[in-house]
Amino acid sequence: MSYQIVIQPSGHVIQVEPGETILDAALREGFSLPYGCRNGSCGVCKGKIIQGKVDYGRYNEETLSKEDIEAGDALFCSASPLSDLIIECHEISAIKDIEIKTLPCRVEKLELVAPDVMVIFLKLPANQRLQFLAGQYIDILLKDGKRRSFSIANAPQDDEFLQLHARNYPGGVFTEHVFTTMKVKDMLRFRGPLGSFFLRDTPGNGPIIFLASGTGFAPIKSILEYVFFQERTRENKRKMILYWGARTKADLYLTDLPEQWQREHDNFTYVPVLSEPLESDHWEGGTGLVHQAVMRDFDDLSAYQVYACGTPLMVKAAYHDFTTQCGLPKDAFFSDVFTPSTSNA
Ligand SMILES: Cc1cc2nc3c(=O)[nH]c(=O)nc-3n(C[C@H](O)[C@H](O)[C@H](O)COP(=O)(O)OP(=O)(O)OC[C@H]3O[C@@H](n4cnc5c(N)ncnc54)[C@H](O)[C@@H]3O)c2cc1C
Ligand code: FES
Repeated sequence: MSYQIVIQPSGHVIQVEPGETILDAALREGFSLPYGCRNGSCGVCKGKIIQGKVDYGRYNEETLSKEDIEAGDALFCSASPLSDLIIECHEISAIKDIEIKTLPCRVEKLELVAPDVMVIFLKLPANQRLQFLAGQYIDILLKDGKRRSFSIANAPQDDEFLQLHARNYPGGVFTEHVFTTMKVKDMLRFRGPLGSFFLRDTPGNGPIIFLASGTGFAPIKSILEYVFFQERTRENKRKMILYWGARTKADLYLTDLPEQWQREHDNFTYVPVLSEPLESDHWEGGTGLVHQAVMRDFDDLSAYQVYACGTPLMVKAAYHDFTTQCGLPKDAFFSDVFTPSTSNA
């Protein structure tokens, strides 16, 4: 049986087919709700059930607690309606008109940029281009129906190749293949662009903090390169600071890039932070957890937007500490959480 959902505050109405989640139905009908992992782990799709009943589906209980459910929250990527519903969430207009495609692609180049980070360059068929917003990701479709999410690291204006930054997860179905057997000219298939991690406009042209851990740098690289491109003729540029955290110096890769951006753009600052620097690193930069480095530099984030990407622990701690201790408005925090894909196979 299909159900009807009214999305508040927009008043948009969608029909949900049997077995569909709220998010799938909304995306199918062209309404863009925020989402990230689509497997009940990251919490980006959390919204309110104002009226009606849902099956909450499969989700991580740390992401949706009993208290959240009692307060009316649900994860729209996992929840399916059991009646007509009224839900509340913030719709995003910018991605609505971008077509999500399934495309073949060819591995053009593989570049090992850190002991466990491979940059993969993918070439699309000659007559195809992928339209995407800087910060979005694609799902690599594996032969057995599994999918693995990777952020697009190149900016949309620089789309000769799609660039992915893949970290090697020991035992990882896809990444172990990337690091051991993948070759130039191998064919892959992917679906995208996906996700809602992209730059929002702010009326006051306010400052931005980007927070990355490990390969969380990938979508932030795309966003920054896009902003630099857009702003090349603009006088009034937004102040942007990138805090990039890794364990040791060897884990920070392609660092020439942010260093070059800092030299070329007065409005950009780069702060690398190591959590476990080696003696041989001779590290004189920031140490500790990357979000705590931000808090050492700023006690008031009320005028900022924060874009955080990387490990679930980092993103969760940053959201919690920035919104409770530094006055960051909850709706000024945007994130993509690199959750393992294994739970959605
Ligand atoms: C929206 C989104 C964007 C992403 N973008 C990127 C990206 O740009 N670069 C990137 O390197 N990763 C990214 N990821 C994470 C990546 O999709 C997963 O790490 C994926 O599971 C790796 O696939 P695999 O087949 O190698 O490992 P799997 O077969 O899925 O997992 C193998 C083992 O490794 C562990 N594992 C896998 N991934 C992780 C993880 N992220 N953290 C901790 N343990 C893990 C699993 O628990 C499992 O034990 C993204 C995830 C999401 C949801
Ligand atoms: S929990 Fe729903 S998109 Fe991540």
